[in-house]
Amino acid sequence: MLDLETKVHDESRQGEAYAPAVAGTQTYTKKFYIESYGCAMNFNDSEIVASILGQEGYGPTRNAEEASLILLNTCSIREKAEQTVRKRLTEFKKLKRETPGMLVGVLGCMAERIKGKLLEEEKLVDLVVGPDAYRSLPALIAEAETGQKSVNVLLSREETYGDISPVRLDNNGVTSFVSIMRGCNNMCTFCVVPFTRGRERSRDAYSIVREARELFDNGYREVTLLGQNVDSYYWTSADGSETITFAMLLEKVAQIDPLLRVRFSTSHPKDITDEVLFIMQRYENICNYIHLPVQSGSSRILQLMNRTYTREWYMKKVDRIRELIPDCGLSTDIICGFCTETEEDHQDTLSLMKYAQYDLAYMYFYSERPGTLAERRYDDDIPEEVKKRRLAEVVELHRKYSQAGMEREVGKTFRVLVEGTSKRSTEQLFGRSDQNKVIVFPKENFKKGDYVMVKVESCTSGTLIGKAVQ
Ligand code: SAH
Ligand code: SF4
Ligand code: F3S
Repeated sequence: MLDLETKVHDESRQGEAYAPAVAGTQTYTKKFYIESYGCAMNFNDSEIVASILGQEGYGPTRNAEEASLILLNTCSIREKAEQTVRKRLTEFKKLKRETPGMLVGVLGCMAERIKGKLLEEEKLVDLVVGPDAYRSLPALIAEAETGQKSVNVLLSREETYGDISPVRLDNNGVTSFVSIMRGCNNMCTFCVVPFTRGRERSRDAYSIVREARELFDNGYREVTLLGQNVDSYYWTSADGSETITFAMLLEKVAQIDPLLRVRFSTSHPKDITDEVLFIMQRYENICNYIHLPVQSGSSRILQLMNRTYTREWYMKKVDRIRELIPDCGLSTDIICGFCTETEEDHQDTLSLMKYAQYDLAYMYFYSERPGTLAERRYDDDIPEEVKKRRLAEVVELHRKYSQAGMEREVGKTFRVLVEGTSKRSTEQLFGRSDQNKVIVFPKENFKKGDYVMVKVESCTSGTLIGKAVQ
């Protein structure tokens, strides 16, 4: 189970309704309610949707009952994610029946994947809008208001919403996401993302820097640059005179202010370059933390997954990271029970975990997704109980290493960016170390947004506990 204060990929936040912590000055004539599922990029998309709807006089609310528009921004990554949304939709049926004129819309990856089906099966859905079609939301809403079902699931090769300032929903005012690209070209065989999000495209570098600077000027102290594969970021200006790689972008964002921390996610192991590692070395405010999903420790399985690296190649990448950035935090994603996975392959995953000593891991059992290359090419032949048993072993081993990693931090002092008051006690603040570990410490006179040197005195499995030092 993830710590509740963990932010990126936090499953505990899945589906939470959210609205700005502080009401804006704008007056709204109508209200919308939005729930988001899936990855950080999807949550960030909901903020773009909020911005587009704001222009139309729609303000966000946390209370579905007072909304005239209900939106679910959905995820298709695993079957379970889709089931959760279907269940939520049936729960909204009653509310819709009781509220004349209420519209219900499905946005995001499920909209893209099962468009027609949603309209047919889920009679209550009025709007189906794919991830590249949010600009058409006002027109689609107007159409739906006349009683027609409205759909736009066209994927685009250009859309990046680069010019839209996201309305920050349910934020802490200190840390924020900034999307730098959309889509994915990688075609990992298990993955539905290339089909739901379309081709990879990079957002205008200057609009990214502008957004990050605005966040800093508004008191934010950390930005996380988001993309399915950030290291393949590559933007060329319209006249072709300038080309910006991820390393260059990272540097530009780091140069905004030394007090602005910079994180990024996700790095595909095949694409993270030495240049990126050198830039991380050079700038104190780029956090020493890399999310480097391995998926499997078996070269044979990695090949079936089309990850394009081997076990050995991945290990060398880990070595290189540790060589250049010795205190770098490292996290991963692991899939258990992919097609044809043997006990030996599974053991390879366990031994690789031992090698990498991840601080954080997101672990799943394989869930076959219709339309993916794996679904078309391979048999989903590992029985569910075997998948689950292997997953339990992976989770257990990870717990052991991450606990040991936490214990190693006791006695050390970290620079912590304060994100808020601890959920467990109002007398305690919580924040994160450069390496992304959650640290809780007595409040004293510190506040949100401060950088505080904290000496760690003890730990739980997910949290370091310490005290501020001079
Ligand atoms: N772009 C990121 C991953 C995005 S999806 C990357 O390449 O690393 C997040 C994670 O979900 C993946 O890393 C993978 O571990 C998991 N995942 C994706 N498809 C899955 C499936 N069909 N079954 C189980 N887990 C899956
Ligand atoms: Fe999916 Fe692979 Fe793209 Fe990640 S890199 S989004 S796992 S296809
Ligand atoms: Fe899910 Fe779509 Fe993200 S499938 S993980 S919401 S890109």
